[in-house]
This record gives sequence, structure tokens and C-alpha cells, in this order.
Amino acid sequence: MAETIPEKTARYVLNTYARAPFVLVQGQGALLTDSDGKTYLDFAAGISVNALGHADQDLVTAVSEQIATLGHVCNLFYSAPQAELAELLCQHSFADKVYFANSGAEAVEAAIKFARKYARETYGPGKTGLVAFTGAFHGRTAGALALTAREKYQAPFRPLLPGVTFAPFNDPAAAEKVIGPETCAVFVEPVQGEGGIHPATPAFLQTLRALCDQYGALLIFDEIQCGMGRTGKLWAYEHVGVQPDMMTVAKALGGGLPIGATLLTERVAEVMAVGDHGSTFAGGPVVCRAAQVVLSRVSQPEFLAQVTHKGALLKERLCELNSPHLVEVRGLGLMIGVEFDRDVAPLIQAGHAHGVLMINAGPRVLRLLPPLIISEAQIEQFVTILRRILQETWA
Ligand SMILES: Cc1ncc(COP(=O)(O)O)c(C=O)c1O
Repeated sequence: MAETIPEKTARYVLNTYARAPFVLVQGQGALLTDSDGKTYLDFAAGISVNALGHADQDLVTAVSEQIATLGHVCNLFYSAPQAELAELLCQHSFADKVYFANSGAEAVEAAIKFARKYARETYGPGKTGLVAFTGAFHGRTAGALALTAREKYQAPFRPLLPGVTFAPFNDPAAAEKVIGPETCAVFVEPVQGEGGIHPATPAFLQTLRALCDQYGALLIFDEIQCGMGRTGKLWAYEHVGVQPDMMTVAKALGGGLPIGATLLTERVAEVMAVGDHGSTFAGGPVVCRAAQVVLSRVSQPEFLAQVTHKGALLKERLCELNSPHLVEVRGLGLMIGVEFDRDVAPLIQAGHAHGVLMINAGPRVLRLLPPLIISEAQIEQFVTILRRILQETWA
């Protein structure tokens, strides 16, 4: 008998992921279908990736045309999609320049290198300290992992990149104790994703900005999960009005194709020279065309207003759930965390049977990240199903 896909995966793919027990074969809008023909309402969006949903027609057309015209050239040659995407990113953000990477973690690695070189060139050697926060997630590569304060993720791989200090998130007084003359850069998510959907407070981000200015450190926002319209603004930092010196973007930017980007101000960009950093695939024509389609759509004020409206509807309905186990509903736009007083794994599992895909952020938080094009009817349908799941699971 032929091996099933889960069996083949177990046999040949390195086992670093816990996977749901079905095989997805097709997606359309906010719906996914598995190999048995069962459909699921997608409230995970590939971990904040599929902003335009699945099989968006503009995206499909742009990617198909681009790969049929010019698929890959590498960064020893110019290509229009890369230049045009960089222009679009700068026009729609604080940034003056863009460095392209292939993933979120790679965009973080680039930011670490740029910050280190900026500090060295501007202030001399020794100013190498990096500050990050409890609950943060910045990625799994060596440098990004060093900034991710999670014992379970870090322990097997020590020693990690030295020079990282952690402080409690959303605690301005604690930040004052760890940011000083030796600090080269401060990394923070304006809304923590993996850490449980926690928006940074305005006072916290304002304090970080002031401390970075005082000590000549760079403020780096990681908007890999919370950026690209997810919170109802194109960038989450717009909710607070504090601007960074660099910002990392990935996930939704490529519409499902792998891309990362590190956005920089001119002041930081000026210290980087030819040969300082690079990647074979980064900023390729196909993914950059895809990203142009996504960014052009999600940056439209009407699109963002829809995200805000639908996020408010979802939050309102979740607050009406009336479960005795519900602790808090929080988040911005369509980046919502629902905290319970117990482990949410059984809810996620029951979701599979009921045809909804959800993920967690820590053991007790359901993380809801639907495609930004989800309809109001699908939001209502989702909450009806979640109510039933809660009743059945914790009756
Ligand atoms: C805030 C944040 N930074 C960095 C990363 C790492 O991105 P990637 O998985 O593309 O390497 C993630 C991924 O979940 C993230 O949420």
C-alpha cells in the first residue's frame, strides 16, 4: 500500500514540527480544503502570511507572468521588481532604503549586522550590546535566537551570540536600567505575536525611543508578524507614532512566497558598503512582484479601514462568548489573542473536527490571524463554531 503523506513526511522530513493530522490540498479566499474534501475556515493564515487569502487572482496572475518572463537573476544584476518594491516600501514607511532577505529571521540577522556596523563606524568598537524583551520572538537562526528569550528554544544551542540583555516587556523603568552607553540596538515587537498577542504600550515605545536617542542606540521594530496591515494600520508602530531606525518585515509581504526585508533610515544605510551582506535569492523578481501586489492592496486606506472594522466585529463577538474560562480578549485589528484559564490545545484540536484552523500563542492563548480579506459572514460563522467548541470541550 502506498505511504500516506503524513507517513512519507515522518519518514523523510526532519521532525521539527508538530503538524495537524490532515493534508491540505487547496485554498481559496479564507477557505482551505484537505485531501478528503473537508473544508476549513482559515484563522491562522499560515501564521500571519496569507493577508490576501489563498489563490488571490491578482497575485496568481502577477507571479505567473513574472516567472514566465524573468524568474531569477541574483543580486549581481538589476531587476525592475526589486527596485519598484523597495520604492513602494520606502514611500509607505519611515524608511529610506531596503535590504531584501528570504525570511523573517534573515531580516533580523541583517538588522543585527547593520546595527553592529553602524555603532562601530559611528562610535568605535565596544558599543555592541543588544537589548530585547521577555516574551519576544525574533526567529530561529543563531542571532535571532539569541534575541528570543525562550529557554526551551535557546538551551540546546548554547553558546549563542553574546552581548544580549533581556528586560521585561512593557516596563519603561526596567528598560532604563538595561539601555546605556554600551547599547548598540534595541529590538522590540510593537505587538508581540508568539509571546501571546501583547501590544506594546505607547509609554513603553516612547521610553525606548528616548533612551535610544540618549545613548546613540538604534531602535529596531520587528513587524514581521504585526506589520503589513494586520493591525488595521499598515505598520503597527503607526498606532503609537514612534518611529524606528530600522524595521524587519516578512510573512505577509510575499503573499505566501518567502521574503524578508530590513528597512533602514539613510543615517544607518550610509555605513553599509558593497560586500557587507548578501544573499543569492533575496529580492528575486518573482517574490518582489508578488510583494508589490500585496503591499499595493493592503496599504490602501479602504483596505485598512476594513481590517479595523472586521477586527472590532471579531473582538466584540469574542467578548460575547461568555465562557467561564475566558480571561481576556486582546489585540489590534485582525491580530487577536483570546486568553483562557487553561490549555487551549483541545480547542485547536476540536477546531479541526469542526472545520476551523486556529493556532496558539503560548499554552493558554488562542491566536486568531485570519486572512485580512475574511468576510463579516465568515467571522460570524467562526464565532458560532468557537462557541460550540467551548461548550463541547469544557462543558
Ligand atoms: C515577530 C517575529 N519575528 C521573526 C520571526 C521569524 O520569521 P521567520 O519564521 O520567517 O524566520 C517571526 C516568526 O514567527 C515573528 O513572529
